[in-house]
Amino acid sequence: MDIFTSPDELHAWCAAQKHLGRVIGLVPTMGSLHEGHLSLIRLAKENCDLVVVSIFVNPTQFAPNEDYDAYPRQEQTDLALCQGEGADAVYLPRPADMYADDASVWVTETQLSRTLEGAERPTHFRGVCTVVAKLFNIVQPDVAVFGQKDFQQVAVIRRMVRDLNFPIRIIRAPIVRDPDGLAKSSRNAYLDPDARAAALSLSQALRDAQAAVAAGERDAARVEAAARATTTAAGWLPDYAKVIDAETLMPIQTILPGASALLLACRRGGLRLIDNTLL
Ligand code: PAF
Repeated sequence: MDIFTSPDELHAWCAAQKHLGRVIGLVPTMGSLHEGHLSLIRLAKENCDLVVVSIFVNPTQFAPNEDYDAYPRQEQTDLALCQGEGADAVYLPRPADMYADDASVWVTETQLSRTLEGAERPTHFRGVCTVVAKLFNIVQPDVAVFGQKDFQQVAVIRRMVRDLNFPIRIIRAPIVRDPDGLAKSSRNAYLDPDARAAALSLSQALRDAQAAVAAGERDAARVEAAARATTTAAGWLPDYAKVIDAETLMPIQTILPGASALLLACRRGGLRLIDNTLL
C-alpha cells in the first residue's frame, strides 16, 4: 500500500495507473475509520481495479463553533485498517498540502445544500464540495464511493458531478449499523453510555417510519411527528425530522414508497447525530 502526502505525487501515481488502463476508485474519508468506511472500501474494490482512500479532516467544512479540533484522529490505526482491506494507496495530506494560505476559490452548490444540514450548517457543503472537487482533480477516479449515512452529502456531490462534468460514477453505499441499530459514525466516540442508549431512539424512529409506510401510511407530517416524538422522549431533540423526495431533497406531503426518505438530525447537550432511511 502506497502512502502519499503530496497531491502532485499522488496525481502522478494515479495518472500512471490510469495509463495502464486501471479503473480507480476513490473513498474520501475524514479518518477515524469504522466498519462503515471499510464497507465503502470493499464496495470500491468490487467496482474498481485500484482503490485510493483519502484521510483528511477537512477544516473548511467545520464552522468555527464545531468540533474540528476535537474530531477523533487515529492515523496509525486507520492505515492498518486500509491495509487490511487491501487499499492500494492512502492519501494523508496536511491542511497545508490541500489549501494555500491565500486560497480563494470555492465550489458552492446552491440548491440542495440550502436545506436540512445546510440550513443548520450554512458553510458545511461549500467546504465538502470544495475538498471533494480537489480530491477528484488530484486522483481523477473513475468511481467514488460515499455512505448513505450522509444522505444529503451524496445528493449534493452527485449534483456537483453532473453540473461540473466530472466523469466519475458516484456510488451510494448502504448505512452500516451496530447490532442494536445505531448507525456507525466516527462521532459515536463522543457518546457516553447514557447518551448512546438514548441515541437508539433515532434508529427506532426510522424503523417505526418504515413499518408505518409498509402498513400503508402516506402522510409525511404524521411520520415526521411520530419520529420527533420518539427521539424527543429519549432526550435527543430534533434539529429536523423531515420526509423528503429522495432525489430533489424537497419536502413532500405524500410519501411515495421507494422515492421518499426520512432524514433526522438530533441534539443532546453538545452532541449531534444524523441518521436516515429510504421509505
Ligand atoms: O463524509 C465525510 O467524511 C466528508 O464529508 C468527506 C466526504 C470525506 C469530505 O471531507
